[in-house]
Amino acid sequence: MYNINKVREDFPILSRTVYGKPLVYLDNGATTQKPRIVVDSMVDEYYNVNANVHRGVHFLSQQATDLHEQSRETVRRFINAKSISEIIFTRGTTESVNLVATCFGEYLRCGRNTADGCPEIIISSVEHHSNLVPWQLMCERIGGKLRVIPMNDEGVLDLEAYRSLFNENTRLVAVAHVSNVLGTVNPVKDMVAMAHEHGVPVLVDGAQSTPHFAIDVQDIDCEFFAFSGHKIYGPTGIGVLYGKEEWLDKLPPYMGGGEMIKTVTFEKTTFNELPFKFEAGTPDFVATTGLARALDYVSDLGMDNIFAHEQELTRYAIQKMNEIEGMKIYGSVDVHDAVISFNVGEIHHLDLGTLLDRLGIAIRTGHHCAEPLMHRLGIQGTARASFGLYNTKEEIDVLCAGIERVRKMF
Ligand code: ALA
Repeated sequence: MYNINKVREDFPILSRTVYGKPLVYLDNGATTQKPRIVVDSMVDEYYNVNANVHRGVHFLSQQATDLHEQSRETVRRFINAKSISEIIFTRGTTESVNLVATCFGEYLRCGRNTADGCPEIIISSVEHHSNLVPWQLMCERIGGKLRVIPMNDEGVLDLEAYRSLFNENTRLVAVAHVSNVLGTVNPVKDMVAMAHEHGVPVLVDGAQSTPHFAIDVQDIDCEFFAFSGHKIYGPTGIGVLYGKEEWLDKLPPYMGGGEMIKTVTFEKTTFNELPFKFEAGTPDFVATTGLARALDYVSDLGMDNIFAHEQELTRYAIQKMNEIEGMKIYGSVDVHDAVISFNVGEIHHLDLGTLLDRLGIAIRTGHHCAEPLMHRLGIQGTARASFGLYNTKEEIDVLCAGIERVRKMF
């Protein structure tokens, strides 16, 4: 276990006040705060190294390229990918999913015979819009169909129903590792194994899992895995797409431009090797350094320690929050991962969030970019508290006292 007071000192923002109250930051599912080491590494690179990568013979360009490629190796190690060829830098989870949806759609379209049925993509009831809309767009482009894995009232996916969705037209499964609303952890390893029985590849949206527990993509055995830097204490605007080499080789490129080519003539272009085939244009090489320092930071703390700390916080929060009159917590209590969505009596979630904000407590309210899930739960939205590695039980006490205060106002 780590020293929480010392950890908090690494995050300058945590000592600020809002409306004269100490900040209680419980919106980590939306984005996390940054430790000094991440911001310092980026400032240092801008001041002392800055030069374009993979393009210059000069000293600075080579130094920047080395840093950038070392960051790729840090990401590879962090998720236990086989090779750095499988690590593509993107702007975040959303771009990673869009990349696969676009390129996979093109791959299906090109390989399609007239006798083929309508291609089907399986997603789940708990998806964030970013792992839903790109597949809808893809289906519209190529004449495909979305199939949705149903869930029970606690947000647990129905695996028998999942099994029955496969048929000879199923082409891909795309599923969230952890729901950003309910905090339920989907059994992605089992789901991948089931998909593989039908020869179907799987994309796992790891935006909400990667910050909370150790990820091993070889163990999950998924074909694609996406996550964002800013949700794991790294910079905004940088993310990762992991893809098995055999699949990345099969897919056509995403964007055209510099760096993703091998040779170009007006008649024809040949493409660069992996991972550069998918990285057109100047990458955000300063952000990749920041991301690598963030991954070093959480690795030094230990992902297992972070998981244990956040599990303890989540259990404590559920117990304390359930003592509040009118409290309704959504999702399953058994597998709750650092995210608690709730409503209190008839209080509108937006009012709750706004009044808690006045007490210095930052939570998220609304549909959390998961409108179909809200429809399934029969609600407009929720308030949501989401925890990070620096949160404390005292902050949960402040949250509960705040909710109690708001409740008494209504
Ligand atoms: N996807 C982020 C969230 O759930 C923004 O808050």
